Amino acid sequence: MKEIVLSGMRPTGKLHIGHLSVIDNWIKLQDKYDTNFFVADYHALTTQFDDTSMLQENIRNMMIDWLAIGLDPEKSTLFIQSQIKEHAELYLLFSMITPLSWLERCPTYKGQVDQFREQEGKDITTHGFLGYPLLQGADILLYLANYVPVGEDQLPHLEITREIARRFNHIYKTDIFPEPKGLLAKVPLLLGTDGRKMSKSYNNFINIISETDEITAKVRSMITDPNRIRKTDLGNPDICTVYSYQKIYNKNDVLEINQNCRSGSIGCMDCKKKLIGALDKLLRPIRDRRNDIESKEKYIDEVIEFGREKAKIKSQINIEKIKEAMNLI
Ligand code: TRP
Ligand code: SF4
Repeated sequence: MKEIVLSGMRPTGKLHIGHLSVIDNWIKLQDKYDTNFFVADYHALTTQFDDTSMLQENIRNMMIDWLAIGLDPEKSTLFIQSQIKEHAELYLLFSMITPLSWLERCPTYKGQVDQFREQEGKDITTHGFLGYPLLQGADILLYLANYVPVGEDQLPHLEITREIARRFNHIYKTDIFPEPKGLLAKVPLLLGTDGRKMSKSYNNFINIISETDEITAKVRSMITDPNRIRKTDLGNPDICTVYSYQKIYNKNDVLEINQNCRSGSIGCMDCKKKLIGALDKLLRPIRDRRNDIESKEKYIDEVIEFGREKAKIKSQINIEKIKEAMNLI
């Protein structure tokens, strides 16, 4: 039997190129593992409970993006979290055995609460947000996942997930839950086009469905080495946002660019043109596939339904076993 991989993504709007490497990594896992990927709409509610007007659109768009990038609904179980009620059920069962202190001391909790308060004047000290890692633990353990591809920022949640698995196994004298491990892909840290942290509120990222003119505008606005005024000035690519993108999206040219920048033999305009070309080449096929898929309403419905059926079967089998271990059935 194949080992089980599971990961989720919150439907917070259109995907940007930073997400591309995350999904490319998911795609690579599809052949070797039993892969499960879901749109974490319950998780979106933990912070966006007060404005759900875009939720349905965002969920569907995320599914279309995934398909356009190349996730395969035949190979992976692609589904929407809230369509599988067992996530909520297991979350409730776990809440009975989870000490409050585990959640209160989770670094993402305090960090995010402060961040929302400062940046948006919003109070997210709700029961649901405190329970965020617990819900994530339920997502993972419901499928008895062995591996969870995530970013480094999610490691505290995985640690809590492992603690819950251990505690459950111990209390109910079972070995039902594995202790899932993180799969940290070498996803490069991508800064926003303005050199700041990538953030929706700064509008400083490149959407994966950007048209050529939008890519061009975003790259043109990027900050280069500020000490370079004339083309012949010697540049320092290490402090240049354009270069940080070249390293990821223009690997073939990157050595040459580095040398030519340092020796003052390439201008920043030309350098940016190379990046625009590379990004356009990368995104064009995704954009085309996305347009094609988007027009096939019925196909998208079918993909969502197919994923729901597959996830339902897996989660129902597992929740039965879990409830049996607890003497609930
Ligand atoms: N918290 C994750 C994030 O923000 C999304 C997520 C929800 C998730 N449930 C999960 C990731 C389960 C992995 C496994 O990226
Ligand atoms: Fe940056 Fe390229 Fe200009 Fe060098 S030439 S400073 S790498 S944009």
